[in-house]
Amino acid sequence: MERMVPERSEGEGPGASAAGPVADEVAPALRESPSSAPPPAEASEAHSAEPSGEAGSPAPSVPAPVAAAPAPVAPATETVDDADEGGPARMRAIDLLGPSRQDVIRGRREEEEAASEVPVKHADVIAFANQKGGVAKTTTTLNLAVSFAEEGYRVLCVDLDPQGNLTMSQGIDPDKVEKSLYDVLVHDMPLSEIIVKREIDIAVASIDLAGAEIAMSTKIGRERSLEKALKEVAGDYDFVCIDTPPSLGLLTINALTAANKVIVPVQCEYLSMRGLVQLQNTLRMIQENLNPDVKIEGILPTMLDTRTVHAKEAVEILEENFGDLVFRSRIRKAIKFAEAPVKGSSVLKYDPESNAANYYRELAKEVLANESAE
Ligand SMILES: Nc1ncnc2c1ncn2[C@@H]1O[C@H](COP(=O)(O)OP(=O)(O)OP(=O)(O)O)[C@@H](O)[C@H]1O
Ligand SMILES: [Mg+2]
Repeated sequence: MERMVPERSEGEGPGASAAGPVADEVAPALRESPSSAPPPAEASEAHSAEPSGEAGSPAPSVPAPVAAAPAPVAPATETVDDADEGGPARMRAIDLLGPSRQDVIRGRREEEEAASEVPVKHADVIAFANQKGGVAKTTTTLNLAVSFAEEGYRVLCVDLDPQGNLTMSQGIDPDKVEKSLYDVLVHDMPLSEIIVKREIDIAVASIDLAGAEIAMSTKIGRERSLEKALKEVAGDYDFVCIDTPPSLGLLTINALTAANKVIVPVQCEYLSMRGLVQLQNTLRMIQENLNPDVKIEGILPTMLDTRTVHAKEAVEILEENFGDLVFRSRIRKAIKFAEAPVKGSSVLKYDPESNAANYYRELAKEVLANESAE
């Protein structure tokens, strides 16, 4: 008997400290029968049969040795009786040591599982950026978004330009909008409150968005306001398309920080391409400091007039300098692009059969193909 006690102590005796690994090993069994654990008093009675007390020393090793010599030791009968219940008691005793640690382990596992189930970004977030004005950022944002929607994808457009051209292009007057991205970025209003349903869902701009950069300037985490707001709706969409203003200010920085891809529309003129280096530098700064995952999805030649030598040369220069980054799709000049916004619609709705509509359908296919190739 005396030998049995130290054996127990060595095997499991270190009490709470040994309970860790032991608890780990038996975790599955314990998880199955936690409620069958006896009340603590029962187990402590079993231990109190040993004069030494062995507080905290569990009964696990008792059953085997006692079963080997049950009769000779009369006083041990009680202990044997206790130990006869020992099969289950073995579990109970460990359970007595383990529960709190078990709970911690189980809690941690559940937390880890939950964390791994929630992807950081559900939707593909694409920012359309070029600090040069009038290069078809808004036209591309809307018509590519509607092309994705035609393919069956759930699409949200975000109008981050105080000019509100994207909002207007869906027939909404930015001057009459009551709640807009201004409230989201400055006052942390939930994004869902400013989403309006049109051809696609659109988070609208209002004229006061022009004051957002100044209003946000003292806000902590001001570069991440949009990224934070998008988390609320990320699971509801496959694509989020963000139109940006013609500048590299805080609004555009918010877009680039929230995005994982950037599409850069470039008008096929030599002067339009000069700003690309500056955009690349800004993007590098964002990658280094705010969003390492963002990358240029492609540079899109827009407003291409194939009749002019200059336009052809401009595309050649683009391809020489940016290689595969230049989309194969080309958006040619077409008056329909100017007409459609007047009707408050995309060119795909305005004239579904037009070449203009097909330019953006082609672009959507290219983006989707790149996506599946990743
Ligand atoms: N492929 C095209 N052919 C002809 N006109 C076009 C084409 N794409 C866009 N446009 C027209 O060019 C003008 C500028 O386009 P858009 O507003 O999309 O540019 P932007 O880059 O968003 O401008 P901003 O920098 O001011 O926001 C608009 O009137 C638009 O209708
Ligand atoms: Mg625009």
